[in-house]
This record gives sequence, C-alpha cells and structure tokens, in this order.
Amino acid sequence: MDTSAKNQISGSTVQLKLDSQEQEPLIPENGHSAFNDPAFINNRNSPVHRWTPWIAGYSSDFVRHALNKYLIEPGVVLDPFAGVGTTLVDSFLLGHNSYGFEINPYAAFVSRVKAGAYKVSTDSLNSEMQSLRIFLNTAMQPGYKVKSKPPKGFKTRFEFYSPKILKKVLIIHDFINQIQNENVRDIFRLAFASTMVKYSNYSYEPSLGARVSSGKKNFDDFPVDQAIMTKLTEIVEDIAWLQKNMPSMDVPQISIINDSFFNYSKHLAPESINLILTSPPYLNNYHYIRNTRPQMYWLDFVKEPKDTKPLENFNFGNYWQTVREKENISLNFSLPDSNLADQLELLRNKNQEKGIYGGNGWANYAASYFNDCYRFSIGIKYLLKKDGVALVVLGNSILQGIMIPTDRYFGEIAESVGLELVQIDVPRRTRVGNSIIQSNVRVGKTESRNQLYESVVELKKL
Ligand SMILES: C[S@@+](CC[C@H](N)C(=O)[O-])C[C@H]1O[C@@H](n2cnc3c(N)ncnc32)[C@H](O)[C@@H]1O
Repeated sequence: MDTSAKNQISGSTVQLKLDSQEQEPLIPENGHSAFNDPAFINNRNSPVHRWTPWIAGYSSDFVRHALNKYLIEPGVVLDPFAGVGTTLVDSFLLGHNSYGFEINPYAAFVSRVKAGAYKVSTDSLNSEMQSLRIFLNTAMQPGYKVKSKPPKGFKTRFEFYSPKILKKVLIIHDFINQIQNENVRDIFRLAFASTMVKYSNYSYEPSLGARVSSGKKNFDDFPVDQAIMTKLTEIVEDIAWLQKNMPSMDVPQISIINDSFFNYSKHLAPESINLILTSPPYLNNYHYIRNTRPQMYWLDFVKEPKDTKPLENFNFGNYWQTVREKENISLNFSLPDSNLADQLELLRNKNQEKGIYGGNGWANYAASYFNDCYRFSIGIKYLLKKDGVALVVLGNSILQGIMIPTDRYFGEIAESVGLELVQIDVPRRTRVGNSIIQSNVRVGKTESRNQLYESVVELKKL
C-alpha cells in the first residue's frame, strides 16, 4: 500500500532554513481577518457536516460567514471543488441554490447523499436500523453463510481488515445490499464508508498508511456494528435537525456534478453564478484519490487501478507522481510582472542530483499547478455574473525548502485574466496540528512550521 503524499514529500529533503531573498512578504501583515477560521476541524460537531471526515475540507463557520456577507438575497453559489459538500449544505440551509463540481466519486457521493437527506424519512431509517439489529442477532451466530465478497481489485500491502473484522463488515454488506429504498441504502453505505478506515489496519496520518507504520497496533477485532450504528444514529438526529432548520418555502436546489470543473462550459451557462466559494487542492500533493481508495473500491466506484488513472490525470494541478519524470513542464501563460517563473526556475535547479526526487520534478508539479490556476481563473471569469465575487481558500507551500506563496501568485494570475484582486486575507496564520502539509515539514523547527498559513483570495468580476 502506498502511503502517498506523506512519504513522497518527506522523501524529498526539506531544508529547514528557507532559501532565497525573494520570499517577502511571507505572511501578509493584516493582523486582523475579515473571515472566520476555515479549518475543517470545526465541522466535527456541526450537524450534517460531521457525517464524513474530510482531511482537506473547510469549515461551515467560514462558509456561513461568507454567504451572509456576500449574498443579501437568495443567489446562486458555486463550489468548483466541492469535496464532501460543506459549501453546498450551508448554501442550502441559508436559502441559496448551489452547484458543486467534484471529480472524486466518493466525495461526490457524500455530497449527493447530504443534498438529498432532507427528503429521507427518519421513521424509515429508524425502522431499517431496527431491522439491522434483528438481522445481526442471527447473522453474527456461527453457521450464517456470508454472501458479500470484498472488492477484488482492492489490494493493500498489509491486510486491510483482520479476518474477524472482515467477516463483520461482509455481514453488514449483506444487510445493506438488500435494502430496497435507494435513499435509505445510500445512507447506510455512507455510514459504512465514513467509519470503514477506523476499524481497518490503516489510518489517516494525514495520508492513508498502515497503522503499524505510525506505531499503532493492528485490530484483531472491533465492534463494527456499534461503530456503524453510532454513525447512523448521528445521521438520523441530523436529518431531523435538517428538516426542522431548512427553508420551509422555495426549497433550494443543490446540483452535484461528478466531473472535472474544467468541463464547466458543458454544464453551466456563462455569467450564471453570484458567488464562488471554494478551496481547491493545495500545492502539497495531498493525494485525494489514493487516500480514498478504500471507500472507492468498497462502494464500487472503481474496480481496478486503471479506473483511478483518469481521476488522477484530471485532478487540479495533477500530482507530483504523474509529472515528476517529465523533462520540463513550464508555465503556459505569461505573467510579466511576477517572479513566479523565476521561483520555478530556482526550484527546478535545486537538488538535481536527486533525479526525480529533486527540484525538476517539484518544479514540474508546481508549474502544472499554476497552469491549472490560470485555467481556473478563466473559468471564474466565464461563470461569474458582473460584480460577482469568488473567495478561494489556499495554503502556501514549501517545496524543496523554497517558499511558494500560492495565494499571491494565484491573485496575480487572476488579475492577468481580467478579474479584480480585491484582497488577500489570512484567517489562519499557522497551519499546524491538522494541517495536511505538516508532514512536509514534520522534521522542521517551529520557525519553518510557522511559515505555513491559509489565505482567502477575494476576486471580483468587473
Ligand atoms: C480542498 S478539497 C475541498 C474540500 C471542501 N471545501 C470541503 O469542505 O469538503 C479539494 C477537492 O477538489 C477536488 N478536485 C480536485 N481536482 C478537481 C477537478 N479538476 N474538478 C473538480 N474537483 C476536483 C478533490 O477531489 C477534493 O475533494
């Protein structure tokens, strides 16, 4: 099993002292932020948002604050990189129609289930949970013949589930597969998918890796049924909450498009959006596809490794693994007043002796990332109505010891396509703890960790 981003990044030497004179200003000195903290950790206790952990999600507080600030009447909101639907759920609750693009079929599934949850009867869910309890009383006894099978194409370096746990998981699948009501079945599938790693021999650290590799003990057995029942109870509670708290008239629409945002013109009309609220993948090579392999295979969204390739290739910015061996990927747009091209050159020339692990591979990755920032900016301009606003949450990066202020470069790129850069705001001055790039600088000293921040880039369509 590949532990993806964590190992790949730490495989490249990150120097503790940041190179280079041209790094100012590392963190804009605004001292006071106009936005609430975007960290996803705050979602862990919010109804609906708490259903599925998503390492790179952002917070409902941030989204609600932004919606209230920019939309004084019902509008149309777009999240081009919707993840597990934070923007969409809050837009719904505050009375706005919304669209979300999401390339990862598992994340798109979670968003879709959340979007339709208000229509599901809590009585039906409670009665299906009761049926599950009764079913388990018999099925957990010796002599029960399990029908379900683990997904054939899902291979891991270490055993994913112990034999005892695997049997329990398959028994629960036997139950889920016979649920007639599709919406109820999807909620059970979601309850399984969002707990399934918890009782496996893998964990998120923050990339998915074997428990033993991070010093944790494997599980011989686990109360799988309890974990799923607890999740289902939480979901039923939240659906009741949702039904009470949703707008009672003119129920807003949520449309989830399981496609790459870059196909936006196939799905949406020009100048059709009032507010874009999003957090694209950061320049940290966090591998959404590898990290959700268990859910994608077990929920049958992919069957074999070749099914995940197109997802990787269309991912915003690509992945370092897909571009590191290419000779020279450069910027395919020009930005005459910026030092971006010079920074990439500096990066390209670092640690050349390390071959694909040296600067060239990372410069290819960064160039692909900024090429997609350019395409993204054109998409924003195409889709926003006049005076419409885009708020883009981004984190800076340190690649091979070189600080890359993605927010500043993204702002410059957006201006170059004719958007107004209103401001770059920094609601999080340090990304530590749950930060997904922390693995990148894990070996670093506090001073280098403090260089990581999160920004909101505010753009306006003129
Ligand atoms: C930072 S996460 C967004 C999390 C989201 N704000 C939330 O709270 O759940 C970025 C998302 O972009 C998705 N993504 C990457 N490339 C994409 C593309 N080309 N089109 C649409 N989605 C993409 C990833 O799968 C990932 O879910």
